[in-house]
Amino acid sequence: MLNADPISDTVTRVRDLTALRAAVRAFRAKGLSVGFVPTMGALHAGHLALVQHAKSLCDVVVVSIFVNPKQFAPHEDFGRYPRQEDADAALLATVGCDLVYLPEADLMYPSVFASLVHVEGPARPLEGEFRPQFFDGVATVVMKLFNQVQPDVAVFGEKDYQQLQVVKTFVRDLDLPVKVVGLPTVREADGLALSSRNAYLSAEERQTAARLIVELNAVAETVRNGGDRDVALQTATDNLLTAGFGPVDYVTLRDADTLSEPGPDTRALRLLAAAWLGKTRLIDNIAV
Ligand code: PAF
Repeated sequence: MLNADPISDTVTRVRDLTALRAAVRAFRAKGLSVGFVPTMGALHAGHLALVQHAKSLCDVVVVSIFVNPKQFAPHEDFGRYPRQEDADAALLATVGCDLVYLPEADLMYPSVFASLVHVEGPARPLEGEFRPQFFDGVATVVMKLFNQVQPDVAVFGEKDYQQLQVVKTFVRDLDLPVKVVGLPTVREADGLALSSRNAYLSAEERQTAARLIVELNAVAETVRNGGDRDVALQTATDNLLTAGFGPVDYVTLRDADTLSEPGPDTRALRLLAAAWLGKTRLIDNIAV
C-alpha cells in the first residue's frame, strides 16, 4: 500500500487519496462493508462511541481527521482548534478503527478549488443564522469525504443534531449511496455533552457548563406535562444568563426533522440550545 503508516497491528494511517483508495479497494476486494466516521480530531468518548457503533454495523471502519477550514468564519476558532494526531490515532486503535485518513489541507482544497455544496432547508435556521458559513462548509467537506471513502454507512453524533439533519437531507436530495446513522450524545456524569471544545473551559466555567442540560431537561419536562412552552423557554434563557452564560444565542423548540418552527405536520419535537460561556460557544439538544 502507498504511503501507509501502521499505527498498530490492526490500524493504518493514510494521508493521501491514492493510499486511501488503495486501502478501501483492498477491503472491497475481500467483500467487506465499510463504515465511516468523519471527525475533526481531538477525539473523546463520544467519537469513540461513533466508531464502535460503525464497527457494529460494518466489517471495517474508516475515520477521517481533518479540521475543515471551510466551516469556520475568519473570527472563529480554526487556529486554536485542538490538534492531537498521535493521541487520536492511539485512541482509535482501541475501538476497532481499521484505517485513519488524515488528508492535508492542500489535498482537500488545492489552490484551484472552486466549488461549494450549498445546503438549504434544515441548514437555514439556528446555526445557519449564527454561523452562515458553517453548513455549506460542512456539506462541502462531507461530500468530498463521502466521495473519497465511498462508505456504505456513515455515523454522526446527535450532539450536532442540526448537522445530522443537514447531512441526511443532502444525502437524500442528491441520491448519495450512503446510509447516514445518528447516535445519541455521550455525556459527562453531570450531564454536560462531550465536545472537543469543552477543553477551552476554565475549571469554573466547566462547573457552570452542566447548567445547559439542566435547563433543557426542565423545558422538556414542562412541555411533556403540557405546560406553557414560551414561558419555559424564556425561564431557561433567564436561568442560563443568571448562571453566567451570555449571550444565549437560542433556546428553542423545533420540528425534529426540518428544524423549522413546529407546525401541524410536526412528527417529533427537538429542543436545541446554543449559548456562550466566556469565550466558548456550547451547543446541546434533546428529544422532547
Ligand atoms: O462534526 C464534525 O466534527 C465536523 O463538522 C465534520 C462532520 C467532521 C465535518 O468537518
